[in-house]
Amino acid sequence: MPSALAPLPDDIPLTRITCTINGEQVVADAPVDCTLLTFLRDIVGLTGTKGACLEGECGSCTVLIDGKPVTSCLMLAGQVNGRTITTVEGLADGDALDVIQEKFVETGAAQCGYCTPGLIMSARALLNDNPSISESELLTALEGNICRCTGYASIVEAVRRAHRELKS
Ligand code: FES
Ligand code: FES
Repeated sequence: MPSALAPLPDDIPLTRITCTINGEQVVADAPVDCTLLTFLRDIVGLTGTKGACLEGECGSCTVLIDGKPVTSCLMLAGQVNGRTITTVEGLADGDALDVIQEKFVETGAAQCGYCTPGLIMSARALLNDNPSISESELLTALEGNICRCTGYASIVEAVRRAHRELKS
């Protein structure tokens, strides 16, 4: 786990956050109004999670909390006290990619890649919860994640292939 990137100013109210991120316990102070997205990126140093709209509209900042997908730009860091967070950095096992990451590579589903971590986390939550989803459930589960580049065909194909592999 990377260490804190920058010292926090000493004249703002802080809250202490204790949580588990990608299997490791993290204890860190954050400003009381710090979003989970900022906490992850700027305090914990996990920059895989991306912020784009910062309004809960695009899904780029999606992480899993206790296995459920959330938009981290809309949560306060203080809300994750005692909870378990998975970010895109937590999916690979050493050099072995998660199956969804693998299929994104295989189908060329990332162009600029900005939406990719959020899409992968949404897909991971979906396939964790329901390995026998229908095509329409798959499409519905991904509709909260906006890609500004690709037109979605290769993204959906990547998730479809991951789904098939997990089922078989
Ligand atoms: S950055 Fe959080 S939903 Fe767009
Ligand atoms: S690959 Fe660029 S936003 Fe999706």
